[in-house]
Amino acid sequence: MPYEKLFQKGRIGNLTIRNRAVMTPMATDFASPDGTASMRLIRYYQERAKGGIGLIINEYTGVDHVTSIPALFQLRASSDVHVAGLEMLVDAVHAHGACIFAQLHHAGSTSKPALTGQQALSASDVPIAPGAPIPRPMTIEEIREVQRKFVDAAIRCQKAGYDGVELHGAHSYLIGQFFSPYYNKRSDEYGGSFENRMRFIAEIIDGIREKLGRRFPISVRISGDEMTPQVPGTLNLQDGLQIGLYLQNKGIDVLNVSNGSGLNANANCDPYSYKPGWKKHVAKAFKQVLRIPVIATNTIKDPDFAEQLLEEGVCDFVGLGRSQFADPEFVNKAKAGRSDEIRPCIGCMVCRERLLAKGMTVVCAVNPRMGREHLYPDYRKNGMNRKVCVVGGGPGGLEAARVLAERGFQVTLLEKQSVLGGTLNLADKPPHKELVTKLTKAMIRQVEVLGVDVRCETEATPEMVKALAPEAVFLATGAAPIIPKLPGIELANVHLAEDVVAGKAKLSGKVAVIGTGMTGLETAEMLGNMGCRLTLVEMLPEIGPGIYPVIRNDILGRIMAFEPELLPGHRLVEIVPGSIRMEKADGTQAEVQVDHVVLSLGTAPNPALAEAFETACGRVIPIGDAAQAGRIYEATKDAFDKAYHFD
Ligand SMILES: Cc1cc2nc3c(=O)[nH]c(=O)nc-3n(C[C@H](O)[C@H](O)[C@H](O)COP(=O)(O)O)c2cc1C
Repeated sequence: MPYEKLFQKGRIGNLTIRNRAVMTPMATDFASPDGTASMRLIRYYQERAKGGIGLIINEYTGVDHVTSIPALFQLRASSDVHVAGLEMLVDAVHAHGACIFAQLHHAGSTSKPALTGQQALSASDVPIAPGAPIPRPMTIEEIREVQRKFVDAAIRCQKAGYDGVELHGAHSYLIGQFFSPYYNKRSDEYGGSFENRMRFIAEIIDGIREKLGRRFPISVRISGDEMTPQVPGTLNLQDGLQIGLYLQNKGIDVLNVSNGSGLNANANCDPYSYKPGWKKHVAKAFKQVLRIPVIATNTIKDPDFAEQLLEEGVCDFVGLGRSQFADPEFVNKAKAGRSDEIRPCIGCMVCRERLLAKGMTVVCAVNPRMGREHLYPDYRKNGMNRKVCVVGGGPGGLEAARVLAERGFQVTLLEKQSVLGGTLNLADKPPHKELVTKLTKAMIRQVEVLGVDVRCETEATPEMVKALAPEAVFLATGAAPIIPKLPGIELANVHLAEDVVAGKAKLSGKVAVIGTGMTGLETAEMLGNMGCRLTLVEMLPEIGPGIYPVIRNDILGRIMAFEPELLPGHRLVEIVPGSIRMEKADGTQAEVQVDHVVLSLGTAPNPALAEAFETACGRVIPIGDAAQAGRIYEATKDAFDKAYHFD
């Protein structure tokens, strides 16, 4: 049997879990405005249960909507009105054989005063990060009240049918704020000594045990290592182990080991440059000292690695976070020997960007159906072998071909290159982009399995497509690089970013990269690695405009090692042999000497192509970049939606 360890049953307290795969809690903001589980949220979790996961620990669930509102649509168990929705959620998950815990949460200092109308509470008055709003130290009465709210929420969860609860003690939320000498400056019995800093959670555990008995499983999620060594008072691995042992002695049933702090979120949820398993020493240290089972995330993108972690004795249960966004069928596909069809999370962080930077519901770049399962139920199988043609085998084309084939259409996919993948075959070339290669392989495999008629090295013409007599043409021909009409643009030392990335333009010396969106920065990193000296020119006031800061800081951190010249607020106006001329925001001119110029100014669709196909073939549906230039998320979403609804 493949993945012998992954598919062994597991035990948490008296509970038997069907395998060793745990979906870790991930906020989605899919709940209703009052915190009730919505149909959207229920269908989303149901899909993961159906996909074979053993245990779902659902997203952070508020215990107190008076003093803790970290997001607009947080799921809650803070009032009796929430029980009915939670019960529906639990039933939907149980129906597919998975178990479910609720992660009980108080945001502490990360609660938003704009949403609660009051100053946030915490152990003391230390903000979550320098410059963030200052919280108010809790009085003893407030401590008691919040503890009671945790217990009441656990009671509601048990009533709703949950298999257990998890206390969220990781990532510097309220419980973590009490744990931490950095955030907890109290001098009463809830601060100072280790025992005192543990008292807040210890009394919650006692309260839950008193009301619900020994048999109702309790998990605690902690940051095993906050990985913030530069800040005194934050918790390191030794501190984490001490907390783990303490909680075990307190009688909890399972420890969910995460990492990171309010000052280092990357240690919890990492961008694409972090390699799978980079933090496995932390979980392994817990596994070695604890008797109770250990759950741990480890940047797991495929079942082979999950199995390896179990074999190595890193944990008892593998924690799958974003992999469950990317492909809810991860576990079932692994079981069925179809691992090559699993869409991997690519670490692009669009999920976090939506939630944390934009205050919007979570989306996934590689799974456009995620969070929309209620609107996009199982595919209508009404293709009836009708012919459709997809022109272009990039992310949009592959996604459209897959969905149309799922629906029973007879799909011909034409690709002018010798291999499928389109822009994905460029996107995976910059450093650390191996996950994009993995995604490309999975997307190609999916269309193969569905029997799509793939024709590579076939440059589609309107006449050729017309001869295939399709009912519609899905035009996924991508977009062309934007080349501004500027003096000197035609010079031989002016190159396109995509040519650098593809290895067609091999440059040396001093290179100016014009435009610092993601492609510009990735190109700059490649050029830096080739030994070029870099000048980054950006028209807008900051380098990397619009890029989610976690990703921007990650890549800029590496680029800064090349000591680039950074020119934000500079607009390219002219290229002359040996230098570029720019206009600054204040209207003054600037000039720098460069050997090469690389343009990374975005892309734009070519409407003439769509018109030509329309004239010859009738119904033409531009998708992805051919409709509107965007990232992988925009391409797959557009393709999915149009292929899903096509009639
Ligand atoms: C959008 C998003 C929301 C998250 N919300 C929570 C949460 O509510 N509670 C929690 O303990 N961790 C949360 N996490 C962290 C995940 O549970 C997990 O630890 C992290 O994504 C790393 O695991 P992965 O590499 O498998 O994704 C969240 C992560 C993401 C991406």
